[in-house]
Amino acid sequence: MPEEVILQAQRELPDWDGQGFSLLETPFSGVKFKRLLGRTRDTLRELLKIPDHFHILFMHGGASAQFSLVPLNLLGDSKCAAYVDSGYWSRKAIHEAHRYCQVEHAAIAEDYIHTSTNTAYCHITSNETADGLQLSLALKASTPLIVDMTSDFLVRPIDFEPIGLIYAGAQKNIGPAGLTIVIVRDDLLGRAHALTPTVLNYTYQVEAGSLVNTPLTYSIYLANLVFQWIGHQGGITSMAKRSQTRSAMIYDVIDASEGFYRCDIPPDQRSRMNLCFKLPDEPLTQLFIDHAAWSGLVNLKGHVQKGGIRASLYNAMPDAGVVALADFMHRFRKQYADL
Ligand SMILES: Cc1ncc(COP(=O)(O)O)c(C=O)c1O
Repeated sequence: MPEEVILQAQRELPDWDGQGFSLLETPFSGVKFKRLLGRTRDTLRELLKIPDHFHILFMHGGASAQFSLVPLNLLGDSKCAAYVDSGYWSRKAIHEAHRYCQVEHAAIAEDYIHTSTNTAYCHITSNETADGLQLSLALKASTPLIVDMTSDFLVRPIDFEPIGLIYAGAQKNIGPAGLTIVIVRDDLLGRAHALTPTVLNYTYQVEAGSLVNTPLTYSIYLANLVFQWIGHQGGITSMAKRSQTRSAMIYDVIDASEGFYRCDIPPDQRSRMNLCFKLPDEPLTQLFIDHAAWSGLVNLKGHVQKGGIRASLYNAMPDAGVVALADFMHRFRKQYADL
């Protein structure tokens, strides 16, 4: 979370919007909260230039719930959906989809994803958080693209032309965990399986303006502050440029390290959000993590199943942190490269 947002939230916690009590105590069905929800939706639409035939939903359950909700809501009469297997999180989505339909494994060839004619949609994970791999967003497919953008939402402009639905768990670039943004194309509504729970049915949520049940009011408030903060920073174009420059700074250190730091992802697929790399051995990796922590650089341990180092450069990460990491990596290598 950006520091400015945390401080504003702290100031406004006891008395929100001059009403003499906290937003936490504000009814979701009242005018004030509904106005906030509308503003939050409008700001997001403006930031990402979301066309009018897409609906924006604020849902519960995190991105993982969407692994089930996408097939439950979108398969309709179809028995098959295509999935691109790009790493850890797409495999989670595929595993869950198997419970609802046949999964066709789709491959990307020159920015195009070929699927069979009977597939309802094609699912991709635009940024593999655990693997450090990011897909091009110039992708096209013969069926609507469903994109898990949990870890690179609000970081790059989106061409909505091939998109059927985008979902993103909030905890990376939006706000607190649990809140999930879903952006769904109008013509994909009305296909939900009869057993889809009402609160998790996209069509009902669209009709109710995300208010089928009590929404995550405080998380939506924080998301609104973050969206405003992004606007003040120059919007999505500015976030995109920043993430390009910041990630290049660290990848340059890796590539100039003569093999001391190693990133196995091909340069054109390297994530600008989650930079994953390895050191020569396990003891050095642990030493890197310990020394980094002494320098105030924390949470650098790679994903539990992947090992190595992962530096996540989400929007709220200050530039000074990226410079400090690059400096630390230089110093660490100088000290330990030839031992
Ligand atoms: C790409 C991606 N998809 C899904 C998830 C799961 O999100 P949640 O914990 O909100 O269910 C994550 C979490 O890090 C993620 O990075």
